Amino acid sequence: MQVGLAGLGRMGAALVPHLRRGSRALTVWNRTADKCADAASSGAHVAQSPAKLTDASEIVLSILFDDAAVLDTYLGVEGLLAGDCSGRIFVEMSTIKPDTIHEIARVAKERGASVVDAPVSGTVGPARDGKLLVLAGGSAADVARVSPVLSLFARSIVHLGPTGSGSTMKLALQLPLYAYWQALGEALSLGSTAGLKPADMLSVIGDSPAAIGMLAAKIPVLLGTDTEVAFALSAALKDLTLIEETGRRCELRMPFATLVADAYRSATAHNWGDKDVAQLVNYVAQVASAADR
Ligand SMILES: NC(=O)c1ccc[n+]([C@@H]2O[C@H](COP(=O)([O-])OP(=O)(O)OC[C@H]3O[C@@H](n4cnc5c(N)ncnc54)[C@H](OP(=O)(O)O)[C@@H]3O)[C@@H](O)[C@H]2O)c1
Repeated sequence: MQVGLAGLGRMGAALVPHLRRGSRALTVWNRTADKCADAASSGAHVAQSPAKLTDASEIVLSILFDDAAVLDTYLGVEGLLAGDCSGRIFVEMSTIKPDTIHEIARVAKERGASVVDAPVSGTVGPARDGKLLVLAGGSAADVARVSPVLSLFARSIVHLGPTGSGSTMKLALQLPLYAYWQALGEALSLGSTAGLKPADMLSVIGDSPAAIGMLAAKIPVLLGTDTEVAFALSAALKDLTLIEETGRRCELRMPFATLVADAYRSATAHNWGDKDVAQLVNYVAQVASAADR
């Protein structure tokens, strides 16, 4: 299988070793060409444009920052869909709006290709370990055709329905996750008023029904012993904005989503946007204790 990968950010770079291991030939493209060096030294080919990536690949994966990046990369003059795409399947893995998936799927269909949306749950560590949860939307035949490639880095592939379903599922699962960090920040601030130590509180919460799956990996981040930024707080705000927009388009009342998004907007406005998403806990705790005084 000739596989292409567009986007060598934190997530895309983590997928390269898996794709190298499992595909006959891997070709990569990244807007900032320097970031292709590691993939090239591991034996991947480097395409000079998204259109050339399509030329070289039967299945093209993309994992890019946001909707604008996906639209640029797919629909630009030298975009993934610029040339002859017949028989290709594009697997779009970014966290973006279902509407954007439908738009690229419409153009892909005109060019004889199809789109599977396959956003992932799990951060850079699970990506490196090949343990992502893949949320797929597309025809059963297309999902079956791309599954051997996705299984190179997935612990599970869930086929949720037609194209766009995976992206809707991804937005739905991000809301309780982001809300959790906000609630945990207020919980830590409550404990600190009685002199409880954050490390002790996190240890107890981590061993209780109040722990989420990701907490154990994030406790060192919260305590400052792990400084890697696996997913930036500002990127979480990007997702929350998509959740709010999609809710509005569906005419849903989602006051809680706005409450959560406001916390991330405030943290980003106070220069916490480049920190890891879990640092929202420390931001909320700091704001809560400042309000106490
Ligand atoms: N990091 C995580 O823990 C995680 C987990 C699950 C899902 N996700 C989702 O996965 C996607 C990628 O995340 P990431 O953490 O890998 O992001 P990242 O490290 O910020 O990388 C973003 C990628 O998008 C590219 N890009 C941005 N704007 C572009 C544009 N206008 N045209 C073409 N390329 C553009 C960047 O290219 P340059 O190198 O040229 O800037 C880079 O390759 C996001 O949608 C994110 O929400 C991330």
